[in-house]
Amino acid sequence: MPEIKPVNLENWRELAKLKVREDQKNFVAQNVYSIAEAQFGADYEGHWDLYPFGIYDGEEPVGFLMYGYNFPHPRTQAFIIRLMVDENQQGRGYGRFGMEKMLEIFRADSRIRSVGISYEPENEVAKGLYARLGFVETGEMQDGEMLAVLKLR
Ligand SMILES: CC(C)(COP(=O)(O)OP(=O)(O)OC[C@H]1O[C@@H](n2cnc3c(N)ncnc32)[C@H](O)[C@@H]1OP(=O)(O)O)[C@@H](O)C(=O)NCCC(=O)NCCS
Repeated sequence: MPEIKPVNLENWRELAKLKVREDQKNFVAQNVYSIAEAQFGADYEGHWDLYPFGIYDGEEPVGFLMYGYNFPHPRTQAFIIRLMVDENQQGRGYGRFGMEKMLEIFRADSRIRSVGISYEPENEVAKGLYARLGFVETGEMQDGEMLAVLKLR
């Protein structure tokens, strides 16, 4: 059974080594960049508290995810900022596991009414995965990406 583990002093280097396929590089920032953002901040429509995690199968790092909270935000109080699975580990359910784990965490928090996510218009695998989990496209673009929202409550 996979699990997620917070990024820390011991594991950030091994998570920074994970990478997507060459043709997917445009879909997601490098993990080391996300880890730097988590330390020093990112400005997406106000302040977000960022939570980066590794996706692990046992001791083996297989992917990375990061979400953010901005509870006063009028539309999406949580945002899934990054999700990636290493090029050698894709198609084994880890991406879906990471998504379901985040949604479980958000569902348990009554401050979160809606969750946002965005993706490149040509990222069909991500788009399909998110749609099957209930995310609905708003029709708006955010920094060149399609914005989709899942209403939890
Ligand atoms: C998108 C990504 C995170 C999915 O992770 P994954 O572990 O490969 O995907 P999973 O094995 O969990 O499969 C998730 C779903 O996508 C489908 N899927 C996976 N690979 C697919 C492919 N190549 N073609 C079509 N469908 C595919 C699976 O059937 C599964 O469907 P389900 O929702 O019915 O269960 C991964 O492909 C990735 O890292 N891509 C590059 C980075 C990226 O695009 N990140 C998202 C940025 S918004």
